[in-house]
Amino acid sequence: MDRVLSGMRPTGRLHLGHMAGALANWVKLQDECECYYCIVDWHALMSDYADPSKLASNSREVLLDWLAVGLDPKKCVLFIQSHVREHVELHMILSMITPLGWLERCPTYKEQILNLQNKDLSTYGFLGYPVLQAADILLYKGDKVPVGEDQAAHLELSREITRRFNNFYGPVFPEPATLLTHNPKIPGTDGRKMSKSYGNSLDIADDLSEIDKKIRTMTTDPARERRTDPGEPSKCPVWDLHKFFNPDGPQMDEIAAGCRTAGIGCIDCKKFLIEHVTAHMTPIQERRKYFEGRGDELKDILNDGARRARETAGRTMSEVYEAVSMPRL
Ligand code: TRP
Ligand code: SF4
Repeated sequence: MDRVLSGMRPTGRLHLGHMAGALANWVKLQDECECYYCIVDWHALMSDYADPSKLASNSREVLLDWLAVGLDPKKCVLFIQSHVREHVELHMILSMITPLGWLERCPTYKEQILNLQNKDLSTYGFLGYPVLQAADILLYKGDKVPVGEDQAAHLELSREITRRFNNFYGPVFPEPATLLTHNPKIPGTDGRKMSKSYGNSLDIADDLSEIDKKIRTMTTDPARERRTDPGEPSKCPVWDLHKFFNPDGPQMDEIAAGCRTAGIGCIDCKKFLIEHVTAHMTPIQERRKYFEGRGDELKDILNDGARRARETAGRTMSEVYEAVSMPRL
């Protein structure tokens, strides 16, 4: 069975874009492969070292969202990166063999430093971001790594580091393949890509009344200024949400025709959407509520996840130390 490893930074509550993209894919994979899903808190510390006070609560929110959308600790290993010290050990060894130039040339490195102007990311640790990511994957000998397009450069680097390790010390690691995530178009309330930093997101944990309110004020086809103006669904972010939440719904053709002829108003159209979003999100939110009230169960899930992750990671590290001629006692 293929091994799958992926990680997510604990940035707090996840939104419907995460749910429809990465998480939907992860949920599917847990039935097909041996999956390890990791909350990468050390990666978060690389950029949030000046104020790490939210790391723990953000990690909890991410775990709750994962469980809510259906990641099942009976089917996959859910764990927190810093609970498995082997990540640091392998990161250290990989950092010995990774040429500086590879890291300095990494497009995401330059981008992040430019984009996050309010944080000083010219640190030793941050330069090594992709090395830690490679360690995350190789520790579990991940064959497939489900990620979005934005991670393609990191995965390429992971493969280069893998080849370099195997060349120096023998074939310990399989080369991890990128499993590119299909991301359905999930716009935020202002029509731009849904993103926490734009403040336009619908969060998995939002109360249904909150989601209702956000959809009511959501941008529509700008051509439909008045109720009597016809619109074009393909130019409307509300329609993109309809397509995700109501893909084969019998109302879809009616809504599209109604929009184009001004037969229905945006308010009616959004009412249908709210109904479908509510139906979709209700069981998800019920699961979240269930776990929110059970701190002990969350702890057990993380303990058990760390234990299983450590088992695999420990075996890999024995091989690694052997390969680099640093046998353990
Ligand atoms: N860098 C990834 C991101 O920002 C998160 C990540 C860390 C990851 N380690 C990983 C993804 C290992 C896949 C595999 O999204
Ligand atoms: Fe968008 Fe629906 Fe209004 Fe058409 S009717 S513009 S699809 S919200």
